[in-house]
Amino acid sequence: MLYHLLTFGCQMNIYDSQKIESIMSKSGHSPVCTPEEAEVILLNTCSIREKAENKVFSKLGRLAELKKTGGGKLIALGGCMASLRKEGLFRRAPMVDILFGPDNMERLPAMIADFVSTGARQAEADFADHTIWDGLGPIEGQVSAPVGIAKGCDNHCSYCIVPYTRGPEISRPADSVLAEVRSLASGGCREVILVGQNVNSYKGGGVDFPALLRLVENVDGIVRIRFMTSHPKDLGDELIGVMAGSKKICPSIHLPIQAGGDAVLSAMNRGYTAEEYLDKVARLKMAVPGAAISTDVMVGFPGETEDDFQKTMDVMREVEFDAIFLFNYSPRPGTPSANFEGVHSREVSQSRFDEANALHKTIMAKKLGGMVGTTHEALCLGPQTEFSGKKLHGRTPHNHLVVFDGDSKLKGETLKITITRVLGYNLFGVMAK
Ligand code: 5AD
Ligand code: SF4
Repeated sequence: MLYHLLTFGCQMNIYDSQKIESIMSKSGHSPVCTPEEAEVILLNTCSIREKAENKVFSKLGRLAELKKTGGGKLIALGGCMASLRKEGLFRRAPMVDILFGPDNMERLPAMIADFVSTGARQAEADFADHTIWDGLGPIEGQVSAPVGIAKGCDNHCSYCIVPYTRGPEISRPADSVLAEVRSLASGGCREVILVGQNVNSYKGGGVDFPALLRLVENVDGIVRIRFMTSHPKDLGDELIGVMAGSKKICPSIHLPIQAGGDAVLSAMNRGYTAEEYLDKVARLKMAVPGAAISTDVMVGFPGETEDDFQKTMDVMREVEFDAIFLFNYSPRPGTPSANFEGVHSREVSQSRFDEANALHKTIMAKKLGGMVGTTHEALCLGPQTEFSGKKLHGRTPHNHLVVFDGDSKLKGETLKITITRVLGYNLFGVMAK
């Protein structure tokens, strides 16, 4: 059948979507570019915040119209919303025919076949440990590819739905990770991004995360290694040492702080204080000078005082993050913080959001402006479509995206790019002679 896949959410979903594509093509299904052309519409969904779910519900509304007029389309919804809401989702989203959780992806072709032959809705969204790590070919032609190293999470941050939608943390065996990295490298991939909810607690068959990085580093053809997400409480000196001693591991880390006030961090069950976070950042910057640090910040957590919020702003001023994913707190059903007191109005949370966003903009303008005239080695990811003209895009080792003119044959090359101007958070440059 012809299928169209829509992906919502985080790095794990992007990775899972590649697996879904692989599973579908192995069963003889073919991808198409639009839902109009498709017989099966697949949605790989996210439930981290209410807004993320609403995005999916409104997409489903539009797809329901298409289903009415397009005749016989089948809608399958996978990912975290399937796991969180299970069969209950059919009530709110009657246009959905199949539900499959993140651990049930490999059952999708059989569920499609069952639905087609019986017309009965299908739902499988449990944490049975039939996670498929192996045997699914990587997508062809990728210069930079995510590689899953662990699934699930044991941290139970008080606001977070992930432990409920993806289950307990399970590390992928190191040889399975390496086999996928080698296969990607032999297909021309140059950069791998090792992904997991908390890569620092990886333990795959006696191999810890620093040891895994050393193994991946030995794979010929891979020139860059990135990883995400790192939990600050688990970022140790050994990992910092491996980063400092490596030519392939990029000098950049995603290290979510969430908040700068210790009372809030404690209520979030994050396991570190702001001072401990700043100490780890200082150690990292000492060992890897100029290391880029990106983060997640959440504002409007229940009980967050104005003083707490200003502490978040202080940390932002001190660290001068290279990128911030900023969120308004969103209560999630079944999480501990959904019952916390001190809930803020939308206005209070949004005004803190706007204040933090404005500060980050100012910091970035200074930071990116300072890069004009400097030259960086960008890994060319190929053509980009967002800006007019024939342009390519690439990433610097510090994970800044840069747009430049050039031939699409340069995809996969590491090029010296001199930064010429900044537009918002985007860098533009020219190839250095
Ligand atoms: N509300 C708002 N943001 C959240 N995040 C996780 N759960 C919630 C929530 N309930 C954010 C955190 C996390 C990122 C992936 O999403 O900042 O690091
Ligand atoms: Fe959620 Fe915390 Fe696990 Fe991240 S570490 S996925 S925020 S529970």
